[in-house]
Amino acid sequence: MDLFDLTGKNAVVIGGAGGIGEALARGLVEAGAGVAIASRNEESLKRAQKDIQEKTGKSVRYYIVDASDESSVVALVSVTVKDMGRVDILVNALGLNKKFPAEDFNMDVFNQMLKINVTGVMMACKHFGRHMIKNGYGKIINLSSVRGKIATKGAGNAAYCSTKGAVDMMTRQLASEFGPHGITVNAIGPTITETPMMTEIIKQRGGDEYRKAQAQGLPMRKMAVPEDCIGSVIFLAAPASDFVTGNIVYPDGGLTCVG
Ligand SMILES: NC(=O)c1ccc[n+]([C@@H]2O[C@H](COP(=O)([O-])OP(=O)(O)OC[C@H]3O[C@@H](n4cnc5c(N)ncnc54)[C@H](OP(=O)(O)O)[C@@H]3O)[C@@H](O)[C@H]2O)c1
Repeated sequence: MDLFDLTGKNAVVIGGAGGIGEALARGLVEAGAGVAIASRNEESLKRAQKDIQEKTGKSVRYYIVDASDESSVVALVSVTVKDMGRVDILVNALGLNKKFPAEDFNMDVFNQMLKINVTGVMMACKHFGRHMIKNGYGKIINLSSVRGKIATKGAGNAAYCSTKGAVDMMTRQLASEFGPHGITVNAIGPTITETPMMTEIIKQRGGDEYRKAQAQGLPMRKMAVPEDCIGSVIFLAAPASDFVTGNIVYPDGGLTCVG
């Protein structure tokens, strides 16, 4: 048995047109899975689909979903199950990251981040989880962050840290509830990675100087790229992790051991 082979398994990556999500979708295709990507913007889904197909030579489906709308998530489960037969792997790679000093935090934005980063992830776990319970098998992988575990010295991350801390505990609780049904639920916690979510933030913080400082702050002395998350997700999606659940794996270059 190849512990890392995903042949015959189907995966849905919500946020699969994003910086990290697209890399993960490509990694899952390369490991043998049938893959669908989903998010709100059709143009970016088409771009990511084309990109993954060109790089892998395999076809990838895309679907429009707003994960913060429960009826949209229910529709995504229906259509992916209808088209793919069954869904074995769910990757929640969606998210929103807006920063304000805590004393000035815009509470509409705070609530929007809760709705996408926490409620959205929960609704995807709930409805794909229900499908996986029927199958007696499933692998759920949530995108958390090092910010679910350690705060930043500077201001701005009250909402982001709150939502990622919530994702960590949601992951553990769902692991407990879904485990008896043969479903593992884990998360990965990347460190700052250059993706569309971070482009503006990195620019505001000084661009190349900031990149260099980030690299120097990590034991592995390298700024993270989306591909750094692929190995952890393949592990958590594959038979290699069948007895691993409720864990947060940190593809973070060592930040959480020194941070
Ligand atoms: N980049 C980092 O430094 C970093 C570090 C640690 C953890 N993470 C986490 O990794 C995940 C991916 O981040 P990223 O850097 O790849 O961000 P990104 O490039 O901005 O991608 C985010 C994705 O989420 C989708 N999305 C947002 N709201 C959604 C909704 N309501 N329904 C469906 N899809 C939605 C976006 O597509 P649409 O807007 O088209 O819907 C986009 O595809 C996030 O959970 C993030 O918090 C990122």
